Amino acid sequence: MPTLLALETSCDESAAAVVRDQRVLASAVASQVEEHARWGGVVPEIASRRHVEALPALIEQVMAESGLAFGELDAIAATAAPGLVGALLVGSVTGRSLARLHNKPFVAVHHLEGHLCSVQLGDPLPPGPYLVLLVSGGHTEMIRVDGPGRYQRLARSRDDAAGEAFDKVARLLDLGYPGGPAIQAAAERGDPRRFALPKGRVSLPEGGFHPYDFSFSGLKTAVLRLVNQLKAESERGGEPFPLADVAASFEQVVADVLVERTTRCARDQGLNTLVLVGGVAANRRLRARLEQRCGELGIQWRLAPLAYCTDNAAMIAVAAEQRFSAGACSPIDLAVAPRLALEQAPVLYEPQPAF
Ligand code: KG4
Ligand code: ZN
Repeated sequence: MPTLLALETSCDESAAAVVRDQRVLASAVASQVEEHARWGGVVPEIASRRHVEALPALIEQVMAESGLAFGELDAIAATAAPGLVGALLVGSVTGRSLARLHNKPFVAVHHLEGHLCSVQLGDPLPPGPYLVLLVSGGHTEMIRVDGPGRYQRLARSRDDAAGEAFDKVARLLDLGYPGGPAIQAAAERGDPRRFALPKGRVSLPEGGFHPYDFSFSGLKTAVLRLVNQLKAESERGGEPFPLADVAASFEQVVADVLVERTTRCARDQGLNTLVLVGGVAANRRLRARLEQRCGELGIQWRLAPLAYCTDNAAMIAVAAEQRFSAGACSPIDLAVAPRLALEQAPVLYEPQPAF
């Protein structure tokens, strides 16, 4: 039953957590969102600097809350890929320094494997392979999981990630950054069926459409056109701009398309469990739509607990614990990789550093 301290600094949340046997002893997140909001998105240079400032206090806090001394840890983990290179380096260098100092093994973690493992912080999963819909600010993917570390990507977005679509549409609705929570709040009392928006299909060179892949860039353009048209009508003396209905209609079409294609893929693959993880998995309408559709189709479902949908270190610790329990650890001089496919995660555990 290993106990691990994990650090997460791949984007704009600094986080630390102590986890033992998939149980969170302590978890803390310092969000930089307000600072980046002024610029309408993440500024890499600011992110790195804030990680440097936030991490020491976060580490002290989770160690104190766990009631453990460094000597009682079995390993120290940090996200090493993918993400902003400067931001990743802060967590990785801090984790590796602590590991060296306290003579503990270091475990590098792939950020997406962390998101996949976030579901293990909730109700236990049914046995057997399952299909994960991973929806975050940088990724929208369906991943078949056949066991720890055994992943196969079955679908992806061809352009914007779902979270990116939320962020971009929020910007054109003047709702600020990050877009997901802002759109969810604006959509609360809106009519989700008032405006029909496109579901963004991906054409195949041989004709027809890809059965599972997503495309969100056309949806963003359609919202822009709708907004311009509605604003012009309102300026000509029509009804006030129906922000709630536009936000709700956008949220609904994203939830519909994500759930439709993922349940179809699960059925085609003969997978009877569907898992939802990532920042966008915090979206209430998406969670409700997935539960409803899985219920109708007789598919079992598990949603990542709300607290562990957006970036956090508890999920990184669970991923690290899984690798460590299987005998893996990382070289102490392993650097970071801003881009690394999930299937390449094993390179983090090769004796010679891959980068
Ligand atoms: O997983 P995450 O914290 O970071 C990445 O690894 O990308 O995801 C962040 C994304 C942002 O695009 C944010 O707008 C979106 O998740 N998000 C949401 C909600 N909360 C966060 N999207 C829709 N509804 C939400 N409630
Ligand atoms: Zn993430």
